[in-house]
Amino acid sequence: MRTTLIEPPSSKTSPETPWPERFAQRTLGMTSSAIRELLKLTEKPDVISFAGGLPAPEVFPLREIEAATHRVLQEHGPAALQYSTTEGYLPLRELLVRHMARYGIRVMPENVLITSGGQQALDLVGKLFLNPGDHVVTEEPTFLGALQAWTAYQALFLPVPIDDDGIRIHRLEEALRSGPKLLYVLPNFQNPSGVTLSLDRRHEVVDLACRYGVPVIEDDPYGQLRYEGDHLPPLVQIDAEMHHCSRGESAFHGGVLYLGSLSKTLAPGFRLGWVVAPDVVVRKLVQVKQGSDLHTSTFTQMLAYEVARGGFLDAHVRTVRRVYRERRDAMLRAMEAHFPPVVRWTRPQGGIFLWATLPEGLDSAEILEEAIAEKVAFVPGASFFPREGGARTLRLNFSYSAPDVIEEGIRRLGRVLDRHVHA
Ligand SMILES: Cc1ncc(COP(=O)(O)O)c(C=O)c1O
Repeated sequence: MRTTLIEPPSSKTSPETPWPERFAQRTLGMTSSAIRELLKLTEKPDVISFAGGLPAPEVFPLREIEAATHRVLQEHGPAALQYSTTEGYLPLRELLVRHMARYGIRVMPENVLITSGGQQALDLVGKLFLNPGDHVVTEEPTFLGALQAWTAYQALFLPVPIDDDGIRIHRLEEALRSGPKLLYVLPNFQNPSGVTLSLDRRHEVVDLACRYGVPVIEDDPYGQLRYEGDHLPPLVQIDAEMHHCSRGESAFHGGVLYLGSLSKTLAPGFRLGWVVAPDVVVRKLVQVKQGSDLHTSTFTQMLAYEVARGGFLDAHVRTVRRVYRERRDAMLRAMEAHFPPVVRWTRPQGGIFLWATLPEGLDSAEILEEAIAEKVAFVPGASFFPREGGARTLRLNFSYSAPDVIEEGIRRLGRVLDRHVHA
């Protein structure tokens, strides 16, 4: 048999490897925007940043985590440091099942896959379902991390506008009629807008998705962070009640995949999230996850279980709610006092973000440069629009900064906005 030998170029004359030419085609859609470069400046200590989606560092339960670390190492030492199953640590999955049952989601541990953060769940969903060119219906605006995850699988986005009650139903039906692969919805205190999907619309979304046969990805990292109003049933529960429970089926067969996360209730550094899905989907996601990271860190899963069991996490979430409610109120009060009246904004019932809309003709990306010069930062809203638009919108985070810092930051931003509104 003849083989063709390729001579290696001599090291003296060899040009530098042209790495970018070697990148796979699917990476070409991944860009890092000028905004991201600008936002790096916000990491300076004297800048008040409302840009990130960071929890308040003061609320991290350091002492409980330290004590739990000792217990995990003493009681499970070698197992905690060993490889483990891809599905996740069973006691943690069982705990999550009990936790979700209190919020109306009734599933078995077999329906739960632990992931390395909710972000990995989004990536695994993309890897499992999306072929190049598949369409995903999203809210507009929507979570940037989902756009990033699914752009890597060469998905195309069909954005549907939202209003104060969430995704607009007529526009949703139009989008679903075109035969998309998935529908992605954030029903509670949406990132970036802070808007909550109303109860009526929850029913309509589930009904339409079922009618058009489109699986729903329900992303709910903020559901527990409600500061006022009543808990609303998750789509996964409405779906189960509408289509399955009436037929007396006990297993979970729904058309909704539910994504949860411990990032905002415990600590994002743990990188713990989970997917709720029918068994057949979990089994396939397990194969997909094996190619990514084998399993989520055994140690942090055991640690999270140790911290959460016995009711500590519930008590901790009550503290988080109290602290964030105060911060939300501080931001709303400061905006009322310092923003020009022509600027409009949402009043979220929970979560960690609110969303402002500037008058026609203004561009929040241009304003950001000036804001950073005044040592305050936000994320321009266009980043959350899957295609285009959103130039006069912006996202503000209220969980990270203390109330007095929020007041000062909004005062600075108000000054910048005043200059533009009156220009
Ligand atoms: C809507 C939404 N989904 C998912 C995530 C991912 O969170 P994590 O990977 O920390 O669980 C975030 C984080 O901000 C988010 O806002």
